[in-house]
Amino acid sequence: SRPLRVALLGCGVVGSQVARLMLTQADDLAARVGAPVELAGVAVRRPDRARETVPPELVTTDAAGLVASGDIDVVVELIGGIEPARTLIDSAFAHGASVVTANKALLAQDGPARYAEAERHGADLYFEAAVAGAIPLLRPLRESLAGDRVNRVLGIVNGTTNFILDRMESTGAGYGEALAEASALGYAEADPTADVEGFDAAAKAAILAGIAFHSRVSLDEVHREGITEITASDIASARAMGRTVKLLAICERSQDGRSVTARVHPAMIPLSHPLASVREAYNAVFVEADSAGQLMFYGPGAGGAPTASAVLGDLVAACRNKLNGGRGPGESAYARLPVRPMGEV
Ligand code: HSE
Repeated sequence: SRPLRVALLGCGVVGSQVARLMLTQADDLAARVGAPVELAGVAVRRPDRARETVPPELVTTDAAGLVASGDIDVVVELIGGIEPARTLIDSAFAHGASVVTANKALLAQDGPARYAEAERHGADLYFEAAVAGAIPLLRPLRESLAGDRVNRVLGIVNGTTNFILDRMESTGAGYGEALAEASALGYAEADPTADVEGFDAAAKAAILAGIAFHSRVSLDEVHREGITEITASDIASARAMGRTVKLLAICERSQDGRSVTARVHPAMIPLSHPLASVREAYNAVFVEADSAGQLMFYGPGAGGAPTASAVLGDLVAACRNKLNGGRGPGESAYARLPVRPMGEV
């Protein structure tokens, strides 16, 4: 099949990992898709940084020109924020490209308008990486649980604040010291306000509630409280009561199914609860559904490579859909690896 051409917008913590994986795992990607997946260009604001990961001839500062160049199949938007991301995504649809994005702020603010725009142009919009990093969560909610009725989604969806609270608890560190460590490790957003004031988790709660309950929930409908007021002594008192403090996102459907709520706030949870053992920047999300019962999703919720894993999964799906309506390549694409009689765990 013909090669699929991909434009990457943004080459920061996640974008540089996406570029690296696209270049180093090109053969695997081609096998999974059934056609070569080419990096056609990488649009950045600061070209010098991107050149560390991508060949200089692929780097441009003209994102709009790259998207509009006419032969792009998939645009991967990893710039974040509302503008220029929104205009570039709409331009991608208008030029017939599908879009993969991790942009929770944009999706939480006006996701439905973007889905509508994609639909109008017969394009696809994928955003698994926008919520809970590497954890497959949106696709299971949207696809695997499509025949069930989800009543509650509850969990830890911000890695930075979980890291901060975990550090405060395990080392007795103050809030500021733990925040500095989270930023140094690349978990926090460029402006950590979004993490520590709960905006990032609230955006994710809006997206989760929308998908879980097949409803429209926007960021300003999510009740939000961050962790900036939590002190080392709050954590010590919770501990004395056999509890720990976690920033939770809670999305619920009312019993009569006629309304939904979404909220983000710190909560004290018993040490025996599975969420209490979620350490560092890990995320964990419980989903409660009528027939499935209680499900738990757990894994790395932030960081360059884990988030890039979710982006690449979406990229494969977008490419497959472009080629043949969602089916992957057939049996011929499977390698024959020797199967050993006993594995080790
Ligand atoms: N700053 C976010 C977090 C990144 O800490 O979870 C992933 O969305």
